[in-house]
Amino acid sequence: MMPVSPHLNIELCLGSSCYCRGNGGIRAGLPDLIARRGWHESVSIKGCLCRESCAKGPMVFLNGVANVVHNISELEKLIEIELRRTPCPMQEEG
Ligand code: FES
Repeated sequence: MMPVSPHLNIELCLGSSCYCRGNGGIRAGLPDLIARRGWHESVSIKGCLCRESCAKGPMVFLNGVANVVHNISELEKLIEIELRRTPCPMQEEG
């Protein structure tokens, strides 16, 4: 059995409030961050609609858990933490 990379689902709120408060910049910088860190196989990224936490935003959901993230550096640190915490499943060889 071989270890499989942990997987993290990242959802950026692209509602107007979160977008203006920082997720627009995070969205623009995320592809470069993923490439620089070699996280292509470890994360998936998608946008989501407003989840009614606008007053706290900008909101980023990591495996469904809400986080307030102000910039790409903060998100990078959160991703590192989450990838370390996520159990590494095993995959059958062959
Ligand atoms: S716009 Fe992001 S929670 Fe409302």
